[in-house]
Amino acid sequence: MVAQTIYKVLTDIGKTVDIKNVSENPELHFQDYDALLIGASTWDEGLINYLMTDYLVSYFSNPENTMLTGKKFAAFGCGESTYEHFCDAIPKLEEMFAKYGVQILQPGLKIDFDPQTEENLKMTEEWATKLLPLL
Ligand SMILES: Cc1cc2nc3c(=O)[nH]c(=O)nc-3n(C[C@H](O)[C@H](O)[C@H](O)COP(=O)(O)O)c2cc1C
Repeated sequence: MVAQTIYKVLTDIGKTVDIKNVSENPELHFQDYDALLIGASTWDEGLINYLMTDYLVSYFSNPENTMLTGKKFAAFGCGESTYEHFCDAIPKLEEMFAKYGVQILQPGLKIDFDPQTEENLKMTEEWATKLLPLL
């Protein structure tokens, strides 16, 4: 949902965007992209959800895939502010990718609960709009 909203903002202005869902096990090559916008929800006391964790651990186990120096990056994801570690997957993603040399374009987008509320849709659109000149 959040990814689709970001996709719409970026493509409406003419950017080429590929959406990939790790649960469908796509063969990703981050090197092929100018910018990486990575989304993950938070589970289990502030962890990146297990599907994304498994995917990234496997992906980065190939040293060739860790060469991301200078690649543009931003993170987004859903969580719930009733949990102590609200959307902690986002700083964890930033930390993980920063280790491989990405350039973090702007603070990650933290969506509380339902991404489809008017407020959250607006927040997502604003976040994607701010990203545009940085891409
Ligand atoms: C067992 C469990 C643990 C969760 N832990 C957190 C958490 O630590 N921090 C947070 O912000 N949200 C937490 N959440 C809320 C989820 O991130 C939120 O419901 C999110 O929308 C789930 O998205 P998904 O179904 O796409 O993974 C948790 C939810 C469950 C069910």
